[in-house]
Amino acid sequence: MDLDGLPETAFVSPRGENRPAVQALLQRGLAQVVERLAGAAGRPPLPQAEASLPDLLPAEPLAEGEILARLDGLLAASMNASAPGWIGHMDPPPATASILGALAAAAVNNNLLSYEMAPALSRLEVAIMARLADLFGLPAGAGGVMASGGSLANLLALAVARNRAFPEAAESGLCGLARRPVILASAAAHTSLAKAAMVLGLGRAAVVAVPGREGRMDPPALAEAVAAARAAGQAPFAVVATAGTTVTGAIDPLAALAEVAEAEGLWLHVDAAYGGALAFSPRHRDRLAGIARADSVTFNPQKWLYVAKTCACCLFRDAALPARHFRVAAPYMAETGGLVNLGELGLQGSRPAEVLKLWLTLQHLGLSGLARLIDAGMALTAEVAAELARRPGLELAAAPDSNLLCFRPVGAGDAAVEALHRRLLDAGLFLSLPLYEGRRWLRLVLLNPHTGAGEIRKMFEVLDEALS
Ligand SMILES: Cc1ncc(COP(=O)(O)O)c(C=O)c1O
Repeated sequence: MDLDGLPETAFVSPRGENRPAVQALLQRGLAQVVERLAGAAGRPPLPQAEASLPDLLPAEPLAEGEILARLDGLLAASMNASAPGWIGHMDPPPATASILGALAAAAVNNNLLSYEMAPALSRLEVAIMARLADLFGLPAGAGGVMASGGSLANLLALAVARNRAFPEAAESGLCGLARRPVILASAAAHTSLAKAAMVLGLGRAAVVAVPGREGRMDPPALAEAVAAARAAGQAPFAVVATAGTTVTGAIDPLAALAEVAEAEGLWLHVDAAYGGALAFSPRHRDRLAGIARADSVTFNPQKWLYVAKTCACCLFRDAALPARHFRVAAPYMAETGGLVNLGELGLQGSRPAEVLKLWLTLQHLGLSGLARLIDAGMALTAEVAAELARRPGLELAAAPDSNLLCFRPVGAGDAAVEALHRRLLDAGLFLSLPLYEGRRWLRLVLLNPHTGAGEIRKMFEVLDEALS
C-alpha cells in the first residue's frame, strides 16, 4: 500500500524499519504514564480541573510531542486511584503487571472471539477460569468465560440458569411460559441484577428482594419468599447470593442459602464480584464457606485483585452448561479440534485478551502476594472499625464482613454527612457517599495498598473535629 503522508510511527513495521522511532514514542508515552502514577501522592484523589478537549478530529496528524502533552492533560484531569487518600470505591490502583498486560493485549490484538484469532490466549483463559473455579472449591469440570465487567458476568450466569430452567425460552422467548420466572436476591444485591432481568425479558420486578439483616439475606426468609412466589403463580429459578455487597461489603450466609437453593431445586449464583478475592487469603477464605456449592460464580479481579479494568469472570460448576444452554455457533469461524470458541459461549463477541492482565498479575504477585494484600486490607479494616466503635457519635451501617465500612454521625441529616464528605475531601481523603436504606453514609473501601496510618489519622482528625 502507498502510505505516504502517514506518521513514521503509525504502525510498527514488521520488518523493523521504524523500530527506534516506535520505541522512542512508546517509551516517552510510558515514561509519562509512570510519572503520573509515581507522583500520584502529590495530587488529590479527585482532579481539580476539567480536561480541555481541543481539536477532537485534527485534519492532519499532530506532532508526537503535542499528542503526548494532550494525553498528559487528560491524565491530569482523571480520577487518581493511586492517591493514598483514594479510599472510597472498589476501584484499586492497578497492579503493575496488569498495566503491562493491557499493553501486551493491545499489541498482539488477538480476538477472544475464537481459537483461530486467539489460540494461546483462549487456552490461557480456559485454563485460568478452571484454576479459579478450583480455588473457589468448585469440582473438577468447572470453568468459565471472562467478561468485560461483573454486570455482564451476572447476566451470562442468569441467562444460562434461565435457559436451563426453561429450555423453551432459549428458542421461543418467554411468551409461551405459563408462569413468570423470578430471581431471589437480597435487597443489597447489585443493580446489575435488575439490568439482567430487563435484558432477559423478565422485567426488573422479577428480582424479588429477600429480607435480611445488615445487608445479608436471611435463609429462612429465602425459603418463605420461594414459597410465597410459587403461591403467587411465579416460577422462581435462581437465587443470587452476594459475597461482598457493593455498599457495605456484606457476605450472605452462603452455606445456609445453598441448603435452601438445593432443597428448592433452584440455581445458586454467587455474585462474588468483590468478595471473591477473599479466596486468595488462607486466613480469611472461610468467610466464603459455601461458595463451593454454587452453580455459578461472578468474580471481578478488577476490584480487590488489583487487575486493571476491565477483568471479570463468569464461572460455572459445570463448564459444559454454557455450551448446552447458551451457545450460538459462529459458522464464520474455523473449527479448532472440537474446542468451542469463547465468543460462542459468552455474551461478547470480539473481546480483548483481558486474561493477559490477570495472568501477569497472578504470576507477578503469586498467591502469597495476593494473600498479603487481602490480609493487610482486612487488618486495617479491623483497626478502623475499632476506632469508629470508640466514638459514640458515629454509627456503623453494618459490622464489616470484608474491607468496607459505612458510617455516619448519629442523628445527622444527609446535608451534614455531605458536608463532612467535603471536609474529608479538602483533607485529601476521598470516601464515597452512597445512599443506603434511605440515608447518606460515608463509605470506606480499604483496598488501596498506598493508604497508611497517616491517611487514617487524618481521617479521624477531621471526624473528631466535626463531632466536637
Ligand atoms: C457485588 C457486585 N456485583 C456486580 C458488580 C458489577 O460489576 P461491573 O461494574 O464490573 O459491571 C459490582 C460493581 O461494583 C458489585 O459490587
